Amino acid sequence: MQPEPANRVAVYRRTIAASTARIWENVLDWEHLPHLHRTSFSGIALLQQSKEGWQAQVQQTSARKTSLVDVRLERPQRRYFTRTLDGVGAGSEILTKLNPAGKDRTEIEVQFFVPNVPSELKAKVAEAYIRLYAQLWSEDEAMMVHRQGVLDRRRSPDANVGAPLRLGTLAEIRQRLPLTVSFCRRRFRVAEVENELMAHPVECPHWGGPLDEAPIEDGQVVCPWHGYRFSVRSGKSCDGRQLQLGPAPRVRIDAATGSVDLLSDSVD
Ligand code: FES
Ligand SMILES: [Fe+2]
Repeated sequence: MQPEPANRVAVYRRTIAASTARIWENVLDWEHLPHLHRTSFSGIALLQQSKEGWQAQVQQTSARKTSLVDVRLERPQRRYFTRTLDGVGAGSEILTKLNPAGKDRTEIEVQFFVPNVPSELKAKVAEAYIRLYAQLWSEDEAMMVHRQGVLDRRRSPDANVGAPLRLGTLAEIRQRLPLTVSFCRRRFRVAEVENELMAHPVECPHWGGPLDEAPIEDGQVVCPWHGYRFSVRSGKSCDGRQLQLGPAPRVRIDAATGSVDLLSDSVD
């Protein structure tokens, strides 16, 4: 059922640099809300999910209150509804229409329906929704563009072996840590963990999130997209998930000269 046009407080239009496939994937991805959108949401508890949508209790970062949110896809019509069923913003409906506009481009139109907004507050409510959604879409767009790049690179052949990569002396490297380098056509970050230099791939094994932007805490790297944790040393999941970081080059330090090299023998 279409929401009442009389309740419509705002419309937001924009072209997103991502395919409709990436956007559907993103809409179904409830898990990223408190990580990618951490300034807006601080927690999420999933209640149900399917290929058609999901329902969850979502915690707002600012209000420290929760909303029961229901997201429903209507793929044939290229649209989806985000409804707040209970809690903060109960009764509001957000209708998003998608219009493919070429490879890796989609026009979106977002309509915000909020019941019982007094006319003198309508402009303020509209501004708040548009500001929030401009930020959410910018964060999502950056994620989708990055992910598309990861998927495209995975299709291109790897050069797995190569000559060692000389990074410099240990003293020089320490000034530049953590250091991101390209090696064997992939990118790795070199960091010092427990007084030992080691390298890890910057691509998260989950959705390809940017681990080069993630802090290393207690020897663990935490992905900014969905919060998955991995040991930098072993590459193993630290949160019980069946995922592991990809292979990384070995760091060799010449005892006599202090010169540091990356070796490809451990990159499969
Ligand atoms: S891409 Fe999902 S946790 Fe890294
Ligand atoms: Fe998002």
